Parts: sequence; C-alpha cells; structure tokens
Amino acid sequence: MHRRKGGQILVNELVQLAAAAYHDGEIRSVGSLELKGIANPVRVFEVDWRPPTGATMQLPAALRAVPEVAYVGRVVEREEIRRAWADAVAGARQTLLICGEPGIGKTRLATHGAFAARETGAAILCGTSNAELAVPYQPWIEIIGHAVTHGDRDVVAAQLALSADQLTTLVPSLGTGGAPVADAETERYRLFDAVGRLLLALAEVHPLFVILDDLHWADRPSLLLLRHLTRACEHSPILFVCTYRDSDRTAGRTRCATRSLRCAASAASRRLCWRACASRTWSICSKR
Ligand SMILES: Nc1ncnc2c1ncn2[C@@H]1O[C@H](COP(=O)(O)OP(=O)(O)OP(=O)(O)O)[C@@H](O)[C@H]1O
Ligand SMILES: [Mg+2]
Repeated sequence: MHRRKGGQILVNELVQLAAAAYHDGEIRSVGSLELKGIANPVRVFEVDWRPPTGATMQLPAALRAVPEVAYVGRVVEREEIRRAWADAVAGARQTLLICGEPGIGKTRLATHGAFAARETGAAILCGTSNAELAVPYQPWIEIIGHAVTHGDRDVVAAQLALSADQLTTLVPSLGTGGAPVADAETERYRLFDAVGRLLLALAEVHPLFVILDDLHWADRPSLLLLRHLTRACEHSPILFVCTYRDSDRTAGRTRCATRSLRCAASAASRRLCWRACASRTWSICSKR
C-alpha cells in the first residue's frame, strides 16, 4: 500500500492515461491507495511536476497591491531606469540612486520601473528600511527571504547546500547555523559572500531588479552588504535601485547613511553620470 508524502501529486489510472500524452515529465505507478468512501484500493500514479523554469519569481508583497492612481509623467526618469535595466540585462550590473524629498514619488518610480522590467522577464526583489525597526540587515532580510522562498528551486537548493549556515542570519526559518566559528569580521564576510553567490546564481535564471527602498534608514551593515554586492556582481544582469530621502539634514543618521550610500554606490563605479531632471528636487545618478 502506498504511503503518501507531502507535496506529492497523485492521480488515478484514468487521469494518468489522459494526461500521459500531454505531460512532458514522468508519471509513474506508485502502487495503490485506500480512499475514504471507496471499497477497494485505487491504483495511483505520481506526477513529476515542477513549475516551468521560464516563470518569473513571484512579486514581493510590497509590490503586489496595485496603486489606486495611475502612473503619470516622470518620462525622463522612467527612460533612465529603462536604460539602466537594458544595460544590466546585457550583463553589466547597474546601481541607480533615486533621491529626493519625502513624498515626491521615489518608491513609486522604483516600483513602476520594476513592473516595466518584469514585462521583459525581470525577477523583482524588494527590501525596505524602517525608522522604527532597528533590526540589522532589515532590507536584506526581506530580499533574501523572498529569494530563498520564491527563487528557482534548484538554484536555491544548491546555494543552501553550500551556505545555509551563513544565510540563516537573514533567513532564520532556515533553522541552521550554530555558534559562530570565526571572528565577527570573517563571519560577516562569509555572509556577504553567500548573499553574493545566491544573487549571482539567481540572476543566471532571470535578470534581477532589486529595490532597496528608504535607504536613509538603513543600518551600516546593510550598506556595507550593498557595497560588497556592487563589486561581487559587477558582470551580472542585476540592477540595484536605491531610494532615499536627502532632505532631512537634521537627522545625523540620515546624513551619515546617505554619505555611506554614495560611497557604496560609487565604490565599484566605472562610469558616473549625473542627470539633472526637470524637477530640481530630483537627482538620479546611474553608476556601474
Ligand atoms: N508619477 C506618479 N503618478 C501617480 N502617482 C504618483 C506618482 N509619483 C508618486 N505618486 C503617488 O504619490 C504618493 C507618494 O509617492 P511615494 O510613496 O513614491 O513617495 P516617496 O518619495 O517614496 O516618499 P517617502 O520619502 O515618504 O518614501 C504615492 O501615493 C504615490 O502612489
Ligand atoms: Mg518611499
């Protein structure tokens, strides 16, 4: 008698006969099963099914709600994002900084760009920093958590086999990782390296459009990780889109974060172009 396992797809003989002509994968007999309300055991077949590898990653929760108001204007900025995305897809990692006053539309522009990129096959990842939550690596917890849960199964499995212990820092549900085996700096490097390898591997399946929203509230380790990734992923189809406020001159933390952010983005810069946009409150710089 067959013992059922979680996640299995079992069908009866009739469905097996009907589906065999259309299903590319294997459908194999796994014995018989007692079913409630049916007198005799039923012969069952297991369907080997995986999500098609061409499907892009599920959208992050932050992008799933469709805004009530349609997107208007920002033609120049949208074109800037489109160009950065095209360069990234061609295999040259891009970093795009979107800065401006509170409420001017930074997040909306970034997400609008993400939706447009998704039409061309992008996998979207998004992490937000928060003023109230002082959790280290906050945006990366969202980004890597989503990537591990919804990224290509084989790629994620291969990366977890190598570095689940390190990634546990960002994805506690992995449940691995014991006491640190090295000093804090070395452990941090291992974490950065693991994140870099995961993103590089995922970007081979679908180019990645990674939003880091509200980076003016990001903690220093998050910015250091961003800096590491801009170097580690230099020849990969990845676009990092970072939004931050640059108007709050009173908050020391904001000033400090913004400065680190500029350093982070320019560390791997081979080309820097500042674009003065229609509105004086906007600045977008595109960097490699
Ligand atoms: N081009 C646009 N067309 C339509 N609505 C827009 C546009 N840009 C922004 N909005 C709307 O304006 C509001 C503020 O935008 P958004 O949240 O993107 O600002 P922000 O600059 O990210 O603000 P914050 O600094 O607080 O994070 C949102 O409701 C957003 O949907
Ligand atoms: Mg915002």
